[in-house]
Amino acid sequence: MYSKYHAAVVGSINMDLILKMKKVPDAGENVLGTSYGYANGGKGANQAVGLARLGAPTKLIGKVADDENGRKLLENLRKNNIDISGVSTKGTQTGLAAIILDNDGYNRIVVYEGANAEIDPDEASAHITDDLDLLLLQFETSEDVVIKCVNTAIKKGITTVVDCGPAKQFELEKMQGATIITPNESETKALTGIFPDTEETILDASKILMARSKAKYIILKLGSRGCSVWDGENLTLMPAYKSNVVDTTAAGDCFTAAMALEFLRSGDIISACDMGNKAGSISVSRMGADASMPTVSDILNFNKN
Ligand code: ATP
Ligand code: RIB
Repeated sequence: MYSKYHAAVVGSINMDLILKMKKVPDAGENVLGTSYGYANGGKGANQAVGLARLGAPTKLIGKVADDENGRKLLENLRKNNIDISGVSTKGTQTGLAAIILDNDGYNRIVVYEGANAEIDPDEASAHITDDLDLLLLQFETSEDVVIKCVNTAIKKGITTVVDCGPAKQFELEKMQGATIITPNESETKALTGIFPDTEETILDASKILMARSKAKYIILKLGSRGCSVWDGENLTLMPAYKSNVVDTTAAGDCFTAAMALEFLRSGDIISACDMGNKAGSISVSRMGADASMPTVSDILNFNKN
C-alpha cells in the first residue's frame, strides 16, 4: 500500500526508561513504582518505525553515541528495516527519556537530549536527497537542524510534515511553506498561547499556526478527542476511535507517520487524518513507544471492528 513512497525522518533516538505507578508523585512526595522496563524510543525513531511498519522504505537521520544504549537502539532500527546510514554514532551520550506512567496509561516524560542535541544541520540536510517523497521532523533536535532540513526539503519539492513535539516555542517564521504542521494540545498552547479545547480555540490556534508557518494544512492532535484539520478555509473536527488505553506514549508519533503516508497515497487530508486516528487508537491500546506502531494489516483489521 505504501511501499512505493520513499520516506526520511530527521529526529531523535532515545532509550526510554518506563516506570509504572498507581499515582504520579506530587512535588516532595515519594511513591512506589509497580514495574519498570526499557524500550526503544525517541520521536524521530518512533516515527521512522511507524513509517517502516506501514511498508514505506525509510531512512532515519540522527545521532547516537557509541555506547550500550546507542548500539541497542541501532540494532532495533536495523531489525525494523530502517536505513540508518544517516545516523551518526559520534555523539557524547545517547538520548534518554524517563517516562512515568500512571494507572490510566497517561505519561509524563523527562528527556535528556544527549547526542540528539549534537546533530549538525549541514550534515543532516546533506542526507535529504532528491529521491525522497516524504520528510518527517519533530522538535526533539536543535531548532537549527529543523529549520535547515525543512527548508532543504521544501526547496526540493518533498512533502514535508512537521510534528511539533515536544512542546516549546519555535520560530515557525523561519520555515515557510511546509506541507503539514501538526502539534498536539500542549504544543499548540506553547506555539500560540491558546489551549485548543473548544471549536473556537481550535480554529483560532490553527489560523495563527498557518499565518506563522504558511503551511498548507494545520492538523491538531487532540488526544482522546481525535484531531482537527484546517486548510485555510474549512475546519474539520474528526473524533477519535474508541480505544482501551494502556499507554499513550508515542500515540502522536504513530498518528503523524500514518497520516503522512496516507496523505501521500490519497492526496486527501481527511482520509489521511482518518488513518492517523486509526493508527493512534491502536497505539494507545499497546505498551511502549515504537513497539506500539501498527502494520497495514493491523489497520485493515481495525477497519473491520
Ligand atoms: P505522545 O506525545 O504521547 O506521543 P501526543 O500527545 O503527541 O502523543 P495525542 O494527541 O495524545 O498525541 O494522540 C495522537 C492521536 O492518537 C490522537 O489524535 C488520536 O487519534 C489518538 N489517541 C490519543 N489518545 C487516544 C485515546 N484515549 N483514545 C483513542 N485515540 C486516542
Ligand atoms: O513521543 C514519545 C517519545 O518522546 C518517547 O519515545 C520518548 O523518547 C520521548 O522522546
